[in-house]
Amino acid sequence: MEIHFKTVISSKIKVYLIGSLAMATFTALAASDASNQQQFPNQYQSWQATSEQVEREDMLANYPASIILWAGSSFAKEYHSPRGHQFAVADVAHTLRTGVAPEPGEKGLSASCWTCKTPDAPRLIEELGFEGYSAKNFTDLGKEIQSVVYCSDCHESGNKKLALPRPHAQDAMAKIQLPFDKQDTNMQGAQVCGQCHVTYYFRPEKSNVVNIPWIFGSTADDIEKYYDTRRFFEWIHPISRTPILKARHPDFEHWSRSKHAEVGVTCITCHMPTQKDAKGVEFTSHKVDKALPHFDSTCSSCHSSKTKIEAKLAANKLTIETKAREVEGLLVKAHYEAKAAWDAGAKWEQMNAPIMGIRHGQWRWDFAMSSHGLYAHNPTEGKQLLDKAFEQASDARKQLAGILKQLNVTQVSYPDISTKQKAQQAIGIVEADLVKEKQKFIEEEINKNWHPVAKFGY
Ligand code: HEC
Ligand code: HEC
Ligand code: HEC
Ligand code: HEC
Repeated sequence: MEIHFKTVISSKIKVYLIGSLAMATFTALAASDASNQQQFPNQYQSWQATSEQVEREDMLANYPASIILWAGSSFAKEYHSPRGHQFAVADVAHTLRTGVAPEPGEKGLSASCWTCKTPDAPRLIEELGFEGYSAKNFTDLGKEIQSVVYCSDCHESGNKKLALPRPHAQDAMAKIQLPFDKQDTNMQGAQVCGQCHVTYYFRPEKSNVVNIPWIFGSTADDIEKYYDTRRFFEWIHPISRTPILKARHPDFEHWSRSKHAEVGVTCITCHMPTQKDAKGVEFTSHKVDKALPHFDSTCSSCHSSKTKIEAKLAANKLTIETKAREVEGLLVKAHYEAKAAWDAGAKWEQMNAPIMGIRHGQWRWDFAMSSHGLYAHNPTEGKQLLDKAFEQASDARKQLAGILKQLNVTQVSYPDISTKQKAQQAIGIVEADLVKEKQKFIEEEINKNWHPVAKFGY
């Protein structure tokens, strides 16, 4: 009884504490925001102007095959290309991927999903402890989020010195021999982007703490070795029973091995060009945006012909896109061929090799696919990743063909995945139902109880 009583009291105190902390930080934030706006008007206004970057693409509609590859995970529900930083909090709040509040007693999605959207994440990590924060539910912490990709995500408070407020990013940079404190401003610039524009996973054994898996290094091979050694998987694929690995926007990783990185050209050079205000004062544009439109102010110092560079980029993009579509086609077939083998009574001893082939091929495809600027950042690595994925998926299919033959399976049926709707139907997702459920949550929770930043653009 006594223990029970204590728990009730302490959890009440905790709720009270979090509530009052939120009020205190809100006031402090508003004050420092006004000061940032006054002291650094050029940087502040250009930071706000990322709100102009409203366009985004529905990647599942563009590439319906990915719905099959991500079956069993929320990625098959909704997946868009990125847009301006001002939308980061609202987009993660509104996506079908983050769903609705969990039923009482259910754990739901980890608050770790907030980590790369807002400086409130490092603040909450400090207040609650890393595991305390990650163990919270995504929707429970929604009310706490009051700002979006902000000055304090990249700078020390109130000044221009660069900072890396996320502890897991500090650790990761040290693991690849680039400790943040020891780098020059140029590399630190890339590293502030690399807090969020990197691949990561949540550690299930540590309350879903977010981790950047660079123990052995940051290539697809290194990270795969780490995951394989730990027998880690994100989910078991419901069609083929493959223990799946998921990559997420490894922009920093690809860039770090590029020719541009070799000559000191960073994310900042290309995505945050130097501009002049009305009085002719130079400043770094904080409207982090597409790079190519700024060719004349950024690229032209090294590349003389815009037409040539555009042609080169277009050719790289076409090669990578073509290879990616081929690999997707093979992987979709492999998942269904594995299902046919299981259905006909295949055993793990037979299936181990092709299932690992699917796992490794899909990992490399994803490591390329989830990086939106790969064709510009490191086309050579992109082609290598997809060539290897092609080989691994083809080998898996050859092995599966052998197993199917042994089991006397002569026909495998593949679904129609010509559109997003058809591919979702094939794996039992009814988008309209998910939208309806989400809409209710948005109206009753987000619109009523969350900060306006979570509604931005909606
Ligand atoms: C996503 C990361 C990021 C965010 C968010 C960010 N900055 Fe910066 N900021 C940088 C980088 C990178 C530089 C360039 C550093 C260098 O090369 O010296 C910079 C430079 C600056 C400078 C130095 C002068 C200049 O223009 O180069 C000031 C002042 C500054 N930022 C203020 C702000 C303010 C105020 C905010 C919030 C409204 C903000 N920054 C948000 C990354 C960021
Ligand atoms: C705190 C995490 C965080 C940091 C730090 C960060 N980003 Fe982002 N960035 C995001 C998120 C999240 C999105 C997607 C937002 C959306 O689609 O709602 C994004 C989107 C982008 C886009 C797409 C813009 C568009 O309109 O298509 C570019 C380019 C980009 N970031 C580059 C950078 C660069 C360069 C840096 C470093 C100066 C940086 N980011 C720092 C989280 C971050
Ligand atoms: C040599 C210049 C260059 C460098 C260096 C560079 N990028 Fe890019 N990036 C591009 C180009 C070009 C594209 C393709 C679209 C565009 O921006 O025109 C792109 C695309 C992107 C996109 C996808 C935008 C979208 O809406 O699809 C993101 C995100 C991004 N870059 C982030 C980064 C980050 C983070 C870094 C550093 C780790 C970085 N970039 C380094 C030139 C560069
Ligand atoms: C400080 C110099 C510098 C700047 C600035 C620069 N680049 Fe480069 N770029 C290079 C170098 C060096 C190479 C490698 C040249 C080679 O291997 O032939 C390169 C190569 C490239 C390639 C060919 C890559 C490949 O392997 O196919 C493209 C495309 C490219 N740059 C685009 C851009 C764009 C777009 C910008 C501006 C947003 C930009 N670069 C800014 C130095 C620069």
